[in-house]
Amino acid sequence: MTNNLPVDKKTDYWTVSQQFRDHIRQFFPAKQYSLLEVGCYKGLTAKSLADHFTQYLGLDVQEQYLRAARINNLFNAHVKFQKFDVYNTDWNQITFPADVVLIDAVHEYEYIKQDIDNCLQRFEQAVIIFDDYGAWESVFRAVNEAIAQGKLEVAQEIGLKQGQRLWADESNPYSYTHFGSEGLICRSNPR
Ligand SMILES: C[S@@+](CC[C@H](N)C(=O)[O-])C[C@H]1O[C@@H](n2cnc3c(N)ncnc32)[C@H](O)[C@@H]1O
Repeated sequence: MTNNLPVDKKTDYWTVSQQFRDHIRQFFPAKQYSLLEVGCYKGLTAKSLADHFTQYLGLDVQEQYLRAARINNLFNAHVKFQKFDVYNTDWNQITFPADVVLIDAVHEYEYIKQDIDNCLQRFEQAVIIFDDYGAWESVFRAVNEAIAQGKLEVAQEIGLKQGQRLWADESNPYSYTHFGSEGLICRSNPR
């Protein structure tokens, strides 16, 4: 028997939960905005979300992930993947007109800060989605600082909730309790 369920965090630890994707679909009206995914991995979230957006571009530095992403999204004509090192390339080289940016590359504090500043500078009015906000202390700290500095404004918590585990089974080594929501949607440069 074939299993056509989407691959999410329960099957592949490096992607996001299906709840995270569902909440994005619920937050943004269909076919009105373009989505840029910073750190697209194997295109698993693209596969689930791309048809909800007018255009989709996934960026990643790893060729093997980009190859997998293209194969996983073979029949999605408006989906593109591009090799781009987001920490060593000027974001002004990104010509894609992003309305929504999903930040999900390196989760260390300095890298998230760089993502935020690059995103605010290149896509002034974009809505920014952060993965692993309530799973990585470094992401939580960098995003909360940007909120406190008035660079970002919280729009909605998404994905697994604070206090929720990916697996109910406490002995599962891939599970952890979220100290905040899995993801956070923020408006940028609020006035
Ligand atoms: C956690 S995974 C992303 C998961 C993906 N967003 C999803 O939902 O399936 C992080 C990705 O960031 C990519 N990455 C790491 N460093 C990067 C860089 N300097 N530039 C672009 N992508 C990078 C990795 O190759 C990896 O595919």
